[in-house]
Amino acid sequence: MEKIGRNDPCWCGSGKKYKKCHCDIDEIIAEHKLNGEIVPSRKIIKNKAQIDGIRESGRINSAVLDYVSSKICEGCTTEDIDRWVYEETKRLGAIPAPLNYEGFPKSVCTSINEVVCHGIPSEKVVLKDGDIINVDVSTIYKGYFGDASRMFCIGNVSEEKRKLVEVTKQAVYLGLEQVKPWAHLGDIAQVINDLAKENGYSVVREIGGHGIGLEFHEDPWVSYVTEKGTDMLLVPGMCFTIEPMINMGTHRINTDKEDGWTIYTADGKPSAQWEIQVVVTDTGYEVVSK
Ligand code: MF3
Ligand code: CO
Repeated sequence: MEKIGRNDPCWCGSGKKYKKCHCDIDEIIAEHKLNGEIVPSRKIIKNKAQIDGIRESGRINSAVLDYVSSKICEGCTTEDIDRWVYEETKRLGAIPAPLNYEGFPKSVCTSINEVVCHGIPSEKVVLKDGDIINVDVSTIYKGYFGDASRMFCIGNVSEEKRKLVEVTKQAVYLGLEQVKPWAHLGDIAQVINDLAKENGYSVVREIGGHGIGLEFHEDPWVSYVTEKGTDMLLVPGMCFTIEPMINMGTHRINTDKEDGWTIYTADGKPSAQWEIQVVVTDTGYEVVSK
């Protein structure tokens, strides 16, 4: 890493002198690195202006989810949800991030019951009484990315599916409480995985959360099955998602061979997911989209 003088401009792009900006933080990071810990690269530590941009994008992202939540109902199709997301995102001056992302054909992911994630909206898929659905919205605004998802219960949902949805949400917010400088990603994972296991559920391993902000998917990749005290160190200015997928049965999953996107539980049992986007602050966390 190139050596910066204390009076030089900080590497983060704030325009402040290094000694008044990331100098102290860099020292702490260097110590943790010497202890063999996984530390974030400078590239994924955002400055104030970037966090302001991410916050705006996250706010629009949440507004789009609010819009979906005001309209979603039994009898609508997932294609309807896709249209609402596209139109509302555009109306707010933003771009739906999933559209054409690595070939994804729609503006939003809609994942029903045993679909774990990345379900593709279709006019053939009609929401019916008793379904649980995850709507995963991602937004680009002025080059900054927002990302969050919510579950919706359609009509009369069975007690066991409703509980899966509630416990998954609880897991996300329990994970959030772990977010503060110098904690570890594994602290988040541990509380999420523990709560899932206590309830007889399992956490998906192969798909996780991600760094986000200047791009849709940045480092780190965020697992929800690692252990307390392990995995990447949390540093102010990091931005990532907390989005565990929790299955009622086995953690094992399959990918749809036809569309290459849809992920199903291997045993056909239901799966739930909530996603929030967080920034690590100087003292804890800020939720920028939910
Ligand atoms: N929103 C998803 C996530 O949380 C990303 C899905 S990629 C897409 O990572 F192309 F399917 F949209
Ligand atoms: Co995400």
